[in-house]
Amino acid sequence: MSTMLTGPERASIRLDPENYQFLQDLVYRESGIVLNRDKHYLIEARLSPIVAQQRMGSLNELCRLLRTAGPSTLRQQVVDSMTTNETMFFREPAQYEALRKVILPQVMNQRRDRRRLSFWSAAASSGQEAYSLAIMLREMGLDDWYIQIHATDLSSRILQRAREGRFLQIEVNRGLPMQYLVKYFRREDLDWVIRDEVRNMVRFERFDLRQGMGALGPFDVVFCRNVLIYFDLCTKRRVLGEIRNTLLRGGHLLLGGSETILGLDDGYELVPACGAVLYRVP
Ligand SMILES: C[S@@+](CC[C@H](N)C(=O)[O-])C[C@H]1O[C@@H](n2cnc3c(N)ncnc32)[C@H](O)[C@@H]1O
Repeated sequence: MSTMLTGPERASIRLDPENYQFLQDLVYRESGIVLNRDKHYLIEARLSPIVAQQRMGSLNELCRLLRTAGPSTLRQQVVDSMTTNETMFFREPAQYEALRKVILPQVMNQRRDRRRLSFWSAAASSGQEAYSLAIMLREMGLDDWYIQIHATDLSSRILQRAREGRFLQIEVNRGLPMQYLVKYFRREDLDWVIRDEVRNMVRFERFDLRQGMGALGPFDVVFCRNVLIYFDLCTKRRVLGEIRNTLLRGGHLLLGGSETILGLDDGYELVPACGAVLYRVP
């Protein structure tokens, strides 16, 4: 007796090897993200909702459409869905601590004449990183400083969420101290919405890190956290080199906890502070 499968279950079976290769190539070409051989489950989990939404029978059918008349919005939806947007408020708190206590006081001393600080959250996801930074800067009381926070991501879908600044209870429960929730968010239905005074400090824009960065910056601090892990060596090197050129002398780069520049770029110097490691352009 054969079993009828429906919905996502049906969509998830029998992705032909050439279609797996096709999706790997497509995602790499459009984002730089490397999907290894064993990422079948990930492709199936992320793309099955698109298959269902498009009322297709299978992932193979989705691939057929993408190969032929594939509209660019569908291609973008597929690539968007393959990005991993995991993030949280004040992720890796030691880095924020290092910025607040050690790095920013030094940088502000260097910039005391211009009274201007410029930051870039380079893989911003749904905005928690940039908003955490904005909150930290407000708490530092830099009222007479001109502060710019530029926040970018490849995924238009996730950027739309970031701009809205609307978070679920479960999201504000992750990393956001209660006193900041009360001070910088307002309740709307079941969500928490960031107040305009914080939202207006951040400018969100789509940007692919593999693009030339000549028009960006200069920045005092760049957060490029938990995105290099998805790239191959060549892309990592190019991105790190380009970011270095967007940083002012004495500017700092922050990477994710499991990421490093070692063996990739020797133009930065390591700066240990408050249990974190940052990278400075000499
Ligand atoms: C895991 S999140 C990191 C979020 C945040 N930086 C953090 O550490 O919490 C990785 C983000 O990188 C973005 N991304 C992936 N490839 C990218 C690319 N080529 N250019 C820009 N952003 C990219 C994804 O869309 C995703 O939102």
